[in-house]
Amino acid sequence: MKITITGTGYVGLVTGACLADAGNDVLCLDIDADKVRVLNGGGTPIHEPGLAALVGANARSGRLAFTTDTDRAVAHGSVQFIAVGTPPEEDGSADLSHVLEAARAIGRRMTDHKVIVDKSTVPVGTADRVRAAISEELGRRGADVPFAMVSNPEFLKEGAAVDDFMRPDRVVVGTDDEHAVAVMRAIYAPFLRNHDRLLVMDLRSAELTKYAANAMLATRISFMNEMANLAERLGADIEAIRKGIGSDSRIGYSFLYAGCGYGGSCFPKDVKALVKTGEEQGEALPILRAVEAVNAAQKRTLATRIVRRFGEDLSGRRFAVWGLSFKPNTDDMREAPSRTLIDELLARGAQVSAYDPIAIDAARALYANASGLAFAPSAMEACEGADALAIVTEWRQFRSPNFMELKAKLKHGVIFDGRNLYEPSMVASSGLEYVAIGRNAAGEASPLGA
Ligand SMILES: NC(=O)c1ccc[n+]([C@@H]2O[C@H](COP(=O)([O-])OP(=O)(O)OC[C@H]3O[C@@H](n4cnc5c(N)ncnc54)[C@H](O)[C@@H]3O)[C@@H](O)[C@H]2O)c1
Repeated sequence: MKITITGTGYVGLVTGACLADAGNDVLCLDIDADKVRVLNGGGTPIHEPGLAALVGANARSGRLAFTTDTDRAVAHGSVQFIAVGTPPEEDGSADLSHVLEAARAIGRRMTDHKVIVDKSTVPVGTADRVRAAISEELGRRGADVPFAMVSNPEFLKEGAAVDDFMRPDRVVVGTDDEHAVAVMRAIYAPFLRNHDRLLVMDLRSAELTKYAANAMLATRISFMNEMANLAERLGADIEAIRKGIGSDSRIGYSFLYAGCGYGGSCFPKDVKALVKTGEEQGEALPILRAVEAVNAAQKRTLATRIVRRFGEDLSGRRFAVWGLSFKPNTDDMREAPSRTLIDELLARGAQVSAYDPIAIDAARALYANASGLAFAPSAMEACEGADALAIVTEWRQFRSPNFMELKAKLKHGVIFDGRNLYEPSMVASSGLEYVAIGRNAAGEASPLGA
């Protein structure tokens, strides 16, 4: 099938590469000429496990191409995916300007039947607005070209995006057009071979399903963070509690980790956008407002703990930070908790030596003008002479450090662990002070003086 993807970011590129790998003829369009140049030069602009090889192989086979030429892109695909960004506006609502611009660009040019598939995360009713924008452009040039609208929200996780796309838990297809259902079934059949997991529903339900999924996951995280904070006061261990409740099949283990808050390009903006939708509809959505508030506080928890331990004025201090990306296996730093921590440490006069296996280039671009922030070539070198270590992202390589070496390198021998990576007793046996999230019961001396 001939498929065009407008927007070649995390979602568009992964979708394009995976659909090409299934044998489709895919053309990816982006307005970012640098990105397209990198892709046409054989590179990949983002880090995702398995993606570079997949893009390379399919580009070489001729099934996957990249362009900035909108005329060519619209002419190419009988199916036009829209996978552009929907960043938050000032008031939290989703900015639909890119989606509507992409739709208009298609409407201005299309000359034959198209299935328009919205893959971006968009508020309920956006499909109607996309349909109206395309119809308006067609009307403007007196063209009567039929098209179908589909909402096909994407559920991939950064860090495992290719795997998620190749083996989806489900594929949601919202449409009122039977031909479009058949087209979507054909596109996704190679990824649903062992049993059908394609759910057909109306457009509005598909749009809301995506927000509801992310809101539910964010709720679990904030709930566990709330429990962790209570556990800490009560001398209980959130890790024991996590196992105690996760073993209940009605609850399950996923997304039950307490930590220093969620970040990334999706949960924060999607929860905000849903709250805004609720506001517009006269539904206060108190649970989701609390989810956001708990997360905002939790993203500051490492800084708060460092201040409790070292005082308000951190000038003359240096802190090692392990992990910059918002989660492991990605270089994405959008809304990353590391940024909240680094910003506060720098604002309080501290120096930061940061290490991340993948995201240092992304961090350099973000902090180009920041003084006081340096990047270390390895995790251990970041700790050399630092007052303490803060762990923000749970990269696998941080899981079993040499604690004796850390003790020797850190002036005050303190680890602030925002991801609960270690057994407190094991860290304590190396003579290190260990400040984890919701784990006071596990034997470490309370360094918080609470
Ligand atoms: N990143 C994720 O993990 C994820 C997962 C599921 C859903 N989503 C949703 O998918 C959408 C895309 O997210 P992303 O993370 O891939 O964004 P991104 O910022 O990585 O990529 C968006 C791309 O669209 C391009 N673009 C913008 N306007 C354009 C236009 N008019 N024509 C052509 N290209 C244009 C940008 O240059 C950029 O390369 C968002 O709505 C997001 O909420 C993201």
